[in-house]
Amino acid sequence: MSRKILVPWPMPELGKEVFRKARVEAVYIHGPKGELPDIKEWSKRLPGCDVMLPRGVQRISKKIMLIHPSLRGIANYGVGYDSIDVKSATELGLPVTNTPGVLSETTADLAWALLMAAARKIPQAHHYVVSGQWKGFGGKSFFGMDIGPGGSNIRKVLGIIGFGRIGQAVMRRSKGFKMKVIVYDPYRKGTIDRMKGVEYQDLHTLLKLSDFVTIHSLLSRETHHLIGREELDLMKSTALLINTSRGPVVDERALVSALKKGRIAGAGLDVFEKEPRLTAGLNKLENVVLLPHIGSATKDTREQMAVLAAKNAVAMAKGKKPLTPVNPEVFESPAYKRRIS
Ligand code: 8YV
Repeated sequence: MSRKILVPWPMPELGKEVFRKARVEAVYIHGPKGELPDIKEWSKRLPGCDVMLPRGVQRISKKIMLIHPSLRGIANYGVGYDSIDVKSATELGLPVTNTPGVLSETTADLAWALLMAAARKIPQAHHYVVSGQWKGFGGKSFFGMDIGPGGSNIRKVLGIIGFGRIGQAVMRRSKGFKMKVIVYDPYRKGTIDRMKGVEYQDLHTLLKLSDFVTIHSLLSRETHHLIGREELDLMKSTALLINTSRGPVVDERALVSALKKGRIAGAGLDVFEKEPRLTAGLNKLENVVLLPHIGSATKDTREQMAVLAAKNAVAMAKGKKPLTPVNPEVFESPAYKRRIS
């Protein structure tokens, strides 16, 4: 019997190729220009499909999962899976997969680019030139922050919050800038303590000591508003905050207020609390660099994410264990066994 996978967004060709090779049927739903369809519309197509493969931004609630009792899995296109109610999926015997690894280097590149752009005011300076305001030296100076040791040869401190694959890839990029690296990640303290060139610090100490704070933790109840007013108040007034993880890890209203008052020097954000909406005032600030959630956005990486998500989907459709499950405990549950029987 031919298995069917529901893909409610425009998938790269390499991902579709995985389905063709595995002789699995795929149902693609999206607008003519790649617009994402309304969930009410595409979820109607779930009955008759074995697996759904949503994009990270498409929220998968328990209600959606209950539409089709014989669904065999949810293959998320993205490493972060906060868009999926994994707890309910596990209770219902539904495996959920994500796309770790393939996007770590690309996302770390973007985090680093954002750090450099914010530190050296690159977007602001670019705008100054293209808008014809540059009349030669003597105008705006665009003084930025040193990332490396600078003329006075003082090493800067990079504080990394969340030390999974992406956080570690960011740490590797800091080596060429001779930075001191401090890390906060309560789940990886042992690993960090054994590692050369990084030092573990509790969150508050990290915030006090860092010249740059970069966030790479997943979004959970524990990390929601991990950085709020109290935490921003601990940071140096000369420090920058970079976030390429998930918007709600930072209390955006508190951040806007800290940036307005000059409590911290600036921020570089690729993610927002209520994407694509911005907290009032954020887009009026001069000390921010804002990007439309493009951490993993290169052709190569998005293709490899699609391939991994497609392989996971094929495995689940065929009742096999996928490559990168986020709730592996589900495979032992009677509810899962019923689904694949
Ligand atoms: C994607 C991401 O933009 O992987 C993630 O967690 O946030 C990004 O890579 C998105 O999830 C793809 O839909």
